[in-house]
Amino acid sequence: MADRCVTLNSGHQMPLLGLGCWLAESHEIQGSVEAALEAGYRHIDTAALYMNEEGVGAGIKSYLAKSKKDRKDVFVVTKLPSNAMSPEKVERLLKKSLNNLGLTYIDLFLLHFPIGVKGKSDDDFFPLDENKKLVLDYGTDLIAIWKEMERMVKLSLTKSIGVSNFNVRQMRKICAIAKIPPATNQVEMHVYMQQKELQEFCKANNIYITAYSPLGSPGRTKFMGEPTGSANRMQPLENPVVKLIAERHNVSPAQVLIRYLVQLKVITIPKSTNPARIKSNFDVWGFRLTDLDMAALQSLDMGETGRIMNSTETFDMRSHPECPF
Ligand SMILES: NC(=O)c1ccc[n+]([C@@H]2O[C@H](COP(=O)([O-])OP(=O)(O)OC[C@H]3O[C@@H](n4cnc5c(N)ncnc54)[C@H](OP(=O)(O)O)[C@@H]3O)[C@@H](O)[C@H]2O)c1
Repeated sequence: MADRCVTLNSGHQMPLLGLGCWLAESHEIQGSVEAALEAGYRHIDTAALYMNEEGVGAGIKSYLAKSKKDRKDVFVVTKLPSNAMSPEKVERLLKKSLNNLGLTYIDLFLLHFPIGVKGKSDDDFFPLDENKKLVLDYGTDLIAIWKEMERMVKLSLTKSIGVSNFNVRQMRKICAIAKIPPATNQVEMHVYMQQKELQEFCKANNIYITAYSPLGSPGRTKFMGEPTGSANRMQPLENPVVKLIAERHNVSPAQVLIRYLVQLKVITIPKSTNPARIKSNFDVWGFRLTDLDMAALQSLDMGETGRIMNSTETFDMRSHPECPF
């Protein structure tokens, strides 16, 4: 069991493999969370932006009641959305997430994205102007927000704090002033985009990476109606190298992609609402990729061009000083 967890710089243990919950509605995710916990997952990743925290919380509550396990047996991650990226909103939004989840504390609270947007309400996550462009908040002050995140730990509302979608420059900025350094940075990472520079920085600074979209988010060739970076290329699940390694170990391509990350000690959170896939995605502890397998998978890296979550026309954030891409 010990090899299934890492110890964060906050001193808390975090399971390497969790369930991703994006693009699943609240009523649907409740059953998925229960199925995942029954299959052995002990880490659930959600966000205010996913609008399913109630379902996630209900799934956890139901599993804990049935299994007679404790709250401390499940590691819960949620995130501060971009429309709340200002210090005065942090505590209220964290309390709102806790209320949605039906919990008294979060295990890991993340800044979802380094850029603020000017939403008109808590639920206005992607405010668009009359030209259908995202309304950016150019005043985002990462340092002031981080100080407030540290206060959330002192208030015992969260055990650990971290960031998401931060680049190395932004990590340096936070680490330079932090009294509590980020425990993790959750970023896009899969065989086509392996985040070499960020991996080196995080390793040197005792920060774990959580890899999102570990399977390459198959099928998500569009985001909000616009093409993503994977629109015109082969999916990692279809890649012949991945398939060959899967055949050799008698496992699925998804299991190879997940095993690759956890073997690198990168935390990862594949999403599924399909009970059979939820189960098989967790079944990665009974085989080990060889050094040759690992090297072959490493060679699939395309660097920045491998990114799925690229800036689209609507979500063009390049004018913002904190644009991470
Ligand atoms: N911090 C951020 O900005 C950010 C951004 C993106 C994602 N995330 C987090 O990371 C999680 C995972 O990323 P993701 O959802 O983008 O991508 P992903 O986990 O790489 O892929 C999920 C997709 O793969 C399918 N799938 C799952 N298991 C499969 C299998 N064994 N074989 C074939 N297809 C399979 C799922 O469909 P079914 O459900 O039908 O199985 C779903 O469509 C998210 O849910 C979210 O929690 C965070």
